[in-house]
Amino acid sequence: MDQGTFEAVDRFIGETIVAEDKGLRGAVEAAEAAGLPSIQVSPPQGKLLAMLVRLVGAKRILEFGTLGGYSAILMARALPAEGRLISLEASPDYAEVARRSIEAAGVGEKVEVRVGPALETLPLLEEEGTGPFDLVFIDADKVNTPNYFAWSLDRTRPGGLIVADNVVRDGSLAEEADADEATRAQRRLHEMLAEEPRVDATTIQTVGVKGYDGFLVALVEPA
Ligand code: SAH
Ligand code: DHB
Ligand code: MG
Repeated sequence: MDQGTFEAVDRFIGETIVAEDKGLRGAVEAAEAAGLPSIQVSPPQGKLLAMLVRLVGAKRILEFGTLGGYSAILMARALPAEGRLISLEASPDYAEVARRSIEAAGVGEKVEVRVGPALETLPLLEEEGTGPFDLVFIDADKVNTPNYFAWSLDRTRPGGLIVADNVVRDGSLAEEADADEATRAQRRLHEMLAEEPRVDATTIQTVGVKGYDGFLVALVEPA
């Protein structure tokens, strides 16, 4: 089995149970035209995120890493009319592309994109008393995933979910002495969660158009 097979299967899934509509395709095209990297969640992964939003009955979502707004659009659409999603993005240019696509996809009212490195924009969220969140999607700079997780855990309601993308990293997650800082961060996150009674968590390895990676899902336990 190889990358070609993984892509063919994602294509088949896309032709059958996971259809992308105009809003999502538009977001991908706008991102491509603006030169953004094509690293958004795959359509099947995005569909799972949207289903998780519905399963937890989420009304407040926090996202780390907006890029061109693809995952934000998917999650926002799964929210009820009064639901809100705040997405944090370091790049002002990406945020602008995302805002346009989010508006064009019909969820402009539900989504707020905040510009700046997340560690710098989180204190303002805190000051404003935003949250608690029902679902957090962590998908920004990977070295900070454990920091974003720790911040989010204190601000996610019991029964809420924290999902972190890109934790498996071509299998390097299993390499104890891996030199990559981003990989070390995912190992640290797992070690941290092993000792954390406030969540029940699992990591699912994935293959597909984005190669071999995986995401972590953590369910916040009642206090
Ligand atoms: N969630 C998006 C993909 C995000 S890609 C989707 O699936 O559609 C990762 C994003 O994180 C990029 O847009 C990158 O600019 C952003 N990013 C990188 N460092 C960041 C930081 N410190 N704070 C916030 N965003 C950051
Ligand atoms: C990268 C970021 C992502 O969120 C992803 O899913 C894949 C790759 C990256 O920064 O290279
Ligand atoms: Mg990702």
